[in-house]
Amino acid sequence: MTATESIGILSVIRERRSIRNYIDRDVPDEAIRAIIAAGIQAPTALGLQPWQFVVVRDRDLMQRASDYCKPILLEKIGEEARPGTEEFLAALRGPEFNIFYNAPVLILVLGAREVVSSVLDCALCAENMMLAAWALGIGSCWIGSAALIEQNPDLLAALKVPDDHQVVAPLIFGYPAPLLPKPVRREPRITWIP
Ligand SMILES: Cc1cc2nc3c(=O)[nH]c(=O)nc-3n(C[C@H](O)[C@H](O)[C@H](O)COP(=O)(O)O)c2cc1C
Repeated sequence: MTATESIGILSVIRERRSIRNYIDRDVPDEAIRAIIAAGIQAPTALGLQPWQFVVVRDRDLMQRASDYCKPILLEKIGEEARPGTEEFLAALRGPEFNIFYNAPVLILVLGAREVVSSVLDCALCAENMMLAAWALGIGSCWIGSAALIEQNPDLLAALKVPDDHQVVAPLIFGYPAPLLPKPVRREPRITWIP
């Protein structure tokens, strides 16, 4: 790798941010393939690569999934209200709010249930995908709230999630609307030995 390439990678890592506002433009299939191709370069325990991907462009199905998750989230988050959740709770109460932020594409990263490390493996894959997307000018956001679809057999069937796989990372992608500032990072606590 050249020095310029490594600077490029570091700036993608530094600049990536979760995108919750998208312009009305489709993400081409070849970009989706490139994003998944980057995902599968992630390391996996024992090299098992325990993932599958579902690419969802069906807005009605995404709406159904959002409509299913919203009341459950409202109840769950409402019960455990913590600092920082007020804004999300207020958004969830809005009838127009869609947990996928009306993104044009949802990719489910599925992990094989029989593989103990599949959640970790798929999370690494997901981060690669989000970084690759950013490098291609495409925004993304991990929608953890959507993992609730695991409780709904009809949605799992409609989304073609096989019984032997679990939804690990629901990721949305699309071209970003004008960017908000990236949330600041806390200083890392580092212990040096010696
Ligand atoms: C496991 C996981 C679940 C997340 N779930 C949601 C979600 O349901 N909705 C959402 O808007 N953002 C979600 N996010 C995005 C985080 O809110 C975001 O990464 C965090 O605020 C830091 O912002 P940044 O990604 O722009 O640096 C999730 C991120 C992770 C890693």
